[in-house]
Amino acid sequence: MSNESLANLLKEERRFAPPADLAANANVTAEAYERAKADRLGFWAEQARRLTWAEEPTETLDWSNPPFAKWFKDGKLNVAYNCVDRHVEAGNGDRVAIHFEGEPGDSRSLTYAQLKDEVSKAANALLELGVQKGDRVAVYMPMIPETAIAMLACARIGAAHSVVFGGFSSDALATRIQDADAKVVITSDGGYRRGKPSALKPAVDEAVERAGTVEHVLVVRRTGQEVAWDDSRDKWWHETVDRQSAEHTPEAFDAEHPLFILYTSGTTGKPKGILHTSGGYLTQTAYTHWAVFDLKPETDVYWCTADVGWVTGHSYIVYGPLANGATQVMYEGTPDTPHQGRFWEIVQKYKVSILYTAPTAIRTFMKWGDDIPAKFDLSSLRVLGSVGEPINPEAWIWYRKNIGADATPVVDTWWQTETGAMMITPLPGVTHAKPGSAQRPLPGISATVVDDEANEVPDGGGGYLVLTEPWPSMLRTIWGDDQRFIDTYWSRFEGKYFAGDGAKKDQDGDIWLLGRVDDVMLVSGHNISTTEVESALVSHPSVAEAAVVGAADETTGQAIVAFVILRGAAAESEDLVTELRNHVGATLGPIAKPKRILPVAELPKTRSGKIMRRLLRDVAENRQVGDVTTLADSTVMDLIQSKLPAAP
Ligand code: WT7
Repeated sequence: MSNESLANLLKEERRFAPPADLAANANVTAEAYERAKADRLGFWAEQARRLTWAEEPTETLDWSNPPFAKWFKDGKLNVAYNCVDRHVEAGNGDRVAIHFEGEPGDSRSLTYAQLKDEVSKAANALLELGVQKGDRVAVYMPMIPETAIAMLACARIGAAHSVVFGGFSSDALATRIQDADAKVVITSDGGYRRGKPSALKPAVDEAVERAGTVEHVLVVRRTGQEVAWDDSRDKWWHETVDRQSAEHTPEAFDAEHPLFILYTSGTTGKPKGILHTSGGYLTQTAYTHWAVFDLKPETDVYWCTADVGWVTGHSYIVYGPLANGATQVMYEGTPDTPHQGRFWEIVQKYKVSILYTAPTAIRTFMKWGDDIPAKFDLSSLRVLGSVGEPINPEAWIWYRKNIGADATPVVDTWWQTETGAMMITPLPGVTHAKPGSAQRPLPGISATVVDDEANEVPDGGGGYLVLTEPWPSMLRTIWGDDQRFIDTYWSRFEGKYFAGDGAKKDQDGDIWLLGRVDDVMLVSGHNISTTEVESALVSHPSVAEAAVVGAADETTGQAIVAFVILRGAAAESEDLVTELRNHVGATLGPIAKPKRILPVAELPKTRSGKIMRRLLRDVAENRQVGDVTTLADSTVMDLIQSKLPAAP
């Protein structure tokens, strides 16, 4: 971004008060903001008491060597004990921890008592395989209970896990194994995707060969498909774990003991191994999961649809919910297998009361049509969450209306792999919600928007999102590269964490996230956010999804080019394109009118569902399309290009 701060174009006037009964019984009230403001560290020290410590911390934050934070540093705890054993000890061993729903329709439920046995056995198995405290273990798995069990088993013995998303290639797996120097890989023969078994073990065999650091591969049998086998290296989970003792005494580790590494790809350079540690991370994931979803562990059924391969799965499938003793659903497969109502069928079956999903999924459901969720009983739902991208106001409204019976709060939670846990979000019993805005930093979190010179922008202004105080679940460094940690996050604005997102403040001081700063467009000297133009397009009844990029333009510097997916019934025509241009003009002002609008069938997305605008920019500028290896579906770009005149 340059020249001037981000324009503030979108006006969204709709407001939604919290439901009265939810507000009356809410876990968190407005007073929490005041309390945390008066004594931020005292507030976090209080939240740390949600956990069971073997040795209580006496110091909350050591910030003597910024940006290297130490939270609760003289405290000791075992993360797995906190997520499992203590619930059994408290008499809740019979409570279901995980209702597992396989894609082919198989299901099983694990209570906290069963989970404790499984985690203990897996911990004993890892010890037998030579894993020690301080080692790294790579996890390359489908969405099955053994994945959570494996992660907790690592935590239990003090080995850091590095979960690699099961959709990644053997290449990606090999570099991650190597970078973290992993000793053991936990995987499965395969998992079910789109109605058929999809292999994982062959990618592990290749990656392990290349990486050269791995001593053992522990393999869960999920699909029963054929696998190649190396007798000295490979061990079946059912032969190695099942025969172990279910007794394992958890050791207490330092609060700053590494818990996991999770790689983020970013747009350039080699993937960054984001390091998270134990006490602060578990404090903030537990607190936020309880506060933001208003979790009542005795009665709620919670479901986060993310894959455990992303940070959302780490913090809001494994650590936050289990630390809170929640009952949750875990689903293996895709939302359209065997039919497009699968998610709603699952909500109905388990009476899910809290649902956490992503804007990309919500827009897909919009495209599929309102009649699909309408066939199911969704009356158990009481809080809906969103994460991963800015949610277009129209998608927010659709979600609340069609999934939330026009009544449930929708919490739009902003955070990142690096932040470890939620940072900016409404609270369901407190906030008067604005569709499309994450609104306010949580109690105990300090965030603002600054301009190029690091000055805080006034209400109504736009610029860069920064975090101004350390927070308990912050990344501690980039694995093996402290300098890159400093350069990437702490050098753009002195003393502040640079999130890499554009943002604006509205007249009430509420924060609106506007996408990655790399995606901001510069049109005739105005910085315009792709997110706002996309939201304006999606607010037209004919548009289901939109992706907007700035393409080099001789007159205006950059010109706005939009790719749109039309809703089921809408027909593609010149007239519709003109209507859409005018609609954006009327919504945001003439400066934001796209120069070109191209209806397409699909948009290029990463495997975590984010639109890859870089590739669309290549198309809009008539360039050879760049690296497509991180695309979920690499044929999408051919489809888009086939609709355009050939490059000159
Ligand atoms: C980036 C982080 C957080 C877990 C999943 C993604 C974008 C995420 C929101 C939101 C606007 C959002 C940001 C952020 N993002 N949530 N509610 N509103 N933008 O984790 O892969 O590390 O991506 O996702 O651009 O920086 P991640």
